[in-house]
Amino acid sequence: MGKPTLTVGLIGYQFMGKAHSNAYRQVGRYFDLPVDVRMKTICGRTETGVRKAAETFGWEGFETDWRRVVDDPEIDIIDVSTPGDSHCDIVCAAAEAGKSVWCEKPIGNTIAEAAKMRDAVAKSGKPSVVFHNYRFAPAVSLAKKWIDEGRLGRIFHFRAAYLQDWIADPQFPRVWRLEKARTGSGALGDIGSHIIDLGRHLVGEIQSVVGQLETFVTERPLPEGGGSGPVDVDDAAAFIARFASGALGTFEATRFAVGRKNANRFEINGEKGSLVFDLERMNELEYYSELDPPGTRGFRTVLATDSSHPFAGRYWPVGHIIGYEHTFINLVAEALVARDRGERFRPDIEDGYLNQRVLDAVERSAASKAWVNL
Ligand SMILES: NC(=O)c1ccc[n+]([C@@H]2O[C@H](COP(=O)([O-])OP(=O)(O)OC[C@H]3O[C@@H](n4cnc5c(N)ncnc54)[C@H](O)[C@@H]3O)[C@@H](O)[C@H]2O)c1
Repeated sequence: MGKPTLTVGLIGYQFMGKAHSNAYRQVGRYFDLPVDVRMKTICGRTETGVRKAAETFGWEGFETDWRRVVDDPEIDIIDVSTPGDSHCDIVCAAAEAGKSVWCEKPIGNTIAEAAKMRDAVAKSGKPSVVFHNYRFAPAVSLAKKWIDEGRLGRIFHFRAAYLQDWIADPQFPRVWRLEKARTGSGALGDIGSHIIDLGRHLVGEIQSVVGQLETFVTERPLPEGGGSGPVDVDDAAAFIARFASGALGTFEATRFAVGRKNANRFEINGEKGSLVFDLERMNELEYYSELDPPGTRGFRTVLATDSSHPFAGRYWPVGHIIGYEHTFINLVAEALVARDRGERFRPDIEDGYLNQRVLDAVERSAASKAWVNL
């Protein structure tokens, strides 16, 4: 008997549309999966663009209205890879139609939207997925494994920064990521949400935060020409957090770190050792152990490509590195296996909601200039 098939409809066909399409296409070529993935429909608003995307990325067909994808009885999974202003409508409609929802981060533009989506998905009883893909870099999964094994002991610090520089030029246009109505928040939600997810994944829940948001360039040229428009989201965000475990967290998210292109970094310090990760060197995990003999201690760089390391054995021989797109392939593989086993996949919509609570608390803290408890 052949494997069962899961049929996907993907809404959005640009950056994440491309990354997710690649993951659905490749996943069965590297992982021995219990299901086959059928790439049925990709959706976008512009027919010429979405038709080309369907051909390029390998989808059977396309649609220009997401409602038709949600209404398609053959489709099992609705993948939401659009800007934040459409997530809530699509996710709630898909959940109501009994689909499994796979949504990009942050799940909503507000905490009220995130709560609505979480409730709709819970009511559907279907497993969900949120694309916090960095959990699935082999070096990050290795960090998680070592923390769970107790190699670091009690954790004192989670120190994370997500640094980019693509809008440091004041002439860079006011794209959708700079409009609150379309995106909810700026650097905080776009890239800060990823390091919040890594903090929750590696160290646990966040209990309280105090933070600051800054907008350095408040007016930018409109992308379609014809003058300029206001920027009403943060260009940079920084906050201190207290984890429920008692660990201290510092988080920084900015698109003004000139020279830093996609530096998603963390350092974790525990009583028995430390770990350091930087996405720009994503195959490596730095490790310091207090258990090494005195006189030999120091940070060592572990190349997380050994077949004993998470995911690495699925790809190439040791030392043959992998890249950004593999984080999505790994995520999709894990989600499909969990679904088949009837196990909870994480991060799911509940995690997306808990992440949004942190975003919301940081915004409230920045507005009130005070600590906010979650
Ligand atoms: N996981 C990650 O690392 C990561 C990286 C980048 C973006 N994202 C998230 O992915 C989402 C999309 O970001 P992106 O960078 O791919 O944006 P993008 O601008 O590159 O693509 C957005 C796509 O959505 C489509 N779209 C917009 N409104 C639509 C609608 N109403 N109906 C159908 N299609 C619609 C657009 O046509 C376009 O194809 C956002 O939530 C963003 O935060 C996640």
